[in-house]
Amino acid sequence: MGKKKLRLFEETVKFLKKHYPTPPQIGIVLGTGLGSFINEIAVEKEIAYEDIPHFPLATVTGHSGKLVFGKLSGKDVVAMAGRFHFYEGHTAQEVVFPVRVMKLLGVETLLLSNAAGAVNPSFRVGDIMIINDHVSFFTRNPLIGKNINEWGPRFPGMSEPYKKHLVQKAKLIAATHNFEVKEGVYIGVTGPTFETNAEYRLIHLLGGDVVGMSTVQESIVANHMGMDVFAVSVVTDLGIREEGNIITHEEVLEAARHAEPKLAILLKELVAAI
Ligand code: HPA
Repeated sequence: MGKKKLRLFEETVKFLKKHYPTPPQIGIVLGTGLGSFINEIAVEKEIAYEDIPHFPLATVTGHSGKLVFGKLSGKDVVAMAGRFHFYEGHTAQEVVFPVRVMKLLGVETLLLSNAAGAVNPSFRVGDIMIINDHVSFFTRNPLIGKNINEWGPRFPGMSEPYKKHLVQKAKLIAATHNFEVKEGVYIGVTGPTFETNAEYRLIHLLGGDVVGMSTVQESIVANHMGMDVFAVSVVTDLGIREEGNIITHEEVLEAARHAEPKLAILLKELVAAI
């Protein structure tokens, strides 16, 4: 990445600081169907993506496309209502642009959420799974290209992409509120097709518990820049079933909406505990 690209980041950060000067400590990315979590935030400033210089534009239904600054559980947060996906035609670098911007604004901890298809046979639609590891091989690595040494190392370690202390905290929160959470591995794919039956079986064989079209690229970049990452999936469909996984985007949205109250408790209390 050249000097010109760095200048783009500077312009975006300067614009956002001008509109909302308080540096956020925690960044939140809301996945498909999970956008109403925004209602939990005491919103102080909302900025539509199309008004932010150099931001990509979201194109999927169920993503409203705005950056929200405000307070959650007493902390300064910035939330993305709507994220960018590789399948929309954005480059891997564009997908992660907002994550880099969050870090440059001051964010130290990134909380990611997504809708995902389960391949673990013990999972059910509506389950919440805390991600404890991922496989990114089926997506394009967003660090491909010139490394910016001030941002992070050329060859970053990925041995703890999701911080164990955050996983522990989240499990404790769920136990306190008497709801079950699963824990497991998220395998990232490009989409936009849902998987074939053979692909779901392969993902299961490879050690995945769920599969989805986001999150891994954001996690890679956040780890590259030294942020602590926590991520959670809402299971919206079941990949390994005898009759196959007949699934539509609408069903994904509906299942995600259904699980949102549990997710809201988890994220809200996790923010309080950070
Ligand atoms: N596969 C990939 N991405 C998804 C799925 C799925 O089954 N469900 C929600 N996002």
